[in-house]
Amino acid sequence: MSYDFNQLINRENTACVKFDLRQTIFGKPDVLPMWVADMDIATPGFIIEAIRERLKHPVFGYTFRDNEYINAIKWWYSNRHIWDIKGEWIDFCPGVVSGLSHAIRAFTSPGDHIIIQPPVYRPFFTTVTNNSRNLLLNPLLEVEGNYTMNLEQLEELASQGAKMLILSNPHNPIGKLWGSEELLKLGEICLRHNIIIASDEIHSDLIYPGKKHCSIATLNQKLANITVTFSSMSKTFNLAGLASGFVIIPNAELKAKYAKELEASGAGMGNIFGIEALKAAYTPKGAEWMEKLMLHINSNWQVMSQGVSKYNKLKLVQPEATYLVWADFRQTNLSDANLNSLLVHQAGLGFSPGTEYGAEGSGFQRINIACPRHTIDDAIQRLASISKYLA
Ligand SMILES: Cc1ncc(COP(=O)(O)O)c(C=O)c1O
Repeated sequence: MSYDFNQLINRENTACVKFDLRQTIFGKPDVLPMWVADMDIATPGFIIEAIRERLKHPVFGYTFRDNEYINAIKWWYSNRHIWDIKGEWIDFCPGVVSGLSHAIRAFTSPGDHIIIQPPVYRPFFTTVTNNSRNLLLNPLLEVEGNYTMNLEQLEELASQGAKMLILSNPHNPIGKLWGSEELLKLGEICLRHNIIIASDEIHSDLIYPGKKHCSIATLNQKLANITVTFSSMSKTFNLAGLASGFVIIPNAELKAKYAKELEASGAGMGNIFGIEALKAAYTPKGAEWMEKLMLHINSNWQVMSQGVSKYNKLKLVQPEATYLVWADFRQTNLSDANLNSLLVHQAGLGFSPGTEYGAEGSGFQRINIACPRHTIDDAIQRLASISKYLA
């Protein structure tokens, strides 16, 4: 089956965060929006059809996640992630961010320390502090766009009594897949210090050709026992608006604590269309569509990196996963405010400023390339309009 990932879809006036909030976010209503992490690409027809099928029944009452739903997740993990999970390990979260919040409340107490690894997805910071827990920062080490974990500093932070570590794997915004060696070392530190790992793996399907994702919980039984793994079909199939994620918790005690917290929040029911969408998505058809999507995203990456290769002062970090590209503008020597202003007001580009991901993101921008090729070509042209700052 062939799919048209280059179809131009007008998303304006659909209460769409990416397009309809441009004036609010960038102060300019017509920037080319390549920021928030959803795709300007249609959800595949077979998922939309499954939702339509459910719409034929006129009652949308209280609904539970049945065996077909659980089996679809099991099938997906067994086939796509070589991880045989059990049905009783699975629980719900409306979104991965709310799931992280439930996990924080279920496994830690106000005032407890929680470790994150910036530059990292902004809500990792806010979910911790909004729940009155303390952030401990374990910044990644970077040498010319190559990022590694600072495991020595992590050991020091862990010994300060941290209760949880939130892992981003693949890592947003740098697009890195953490390998089993690094994960094992991180895991050993967490095991030694009784730290629970909340592993956000929402981008784990979006892997570039030839690359492999490794879930930390699959590395050994001890790590499975201290890890709660969050994911969702929302990034893979562009379904964030259905607010339907899930969590995998092999440790029955942790699972019970999570379930209690979810119940206390009253957010456990979920979304009737999310259930139907997942059953249609986590199938051989879904896998085939996703592989083709990644070929398209990979070719967007090739075009983008080729298109900016002439600029000495702009370096793109090659992603291994995600449709997010971490762009290093540090050599322009522009302040973050001036860089943002140049991109928005002179080039008309709406990227995500690197400082959103922590102080380590200074001088960077995150670019979302999950779009038709036309948008990539347009972005390259707009960058040309500020070439004197980049060359
Ligand atoms: C790493 C990461 N986690 C979580 C989310 C949000 O997930 P949800 O919409 O399911 O809360 C995003 C979205 O950009 C993300 O990049």
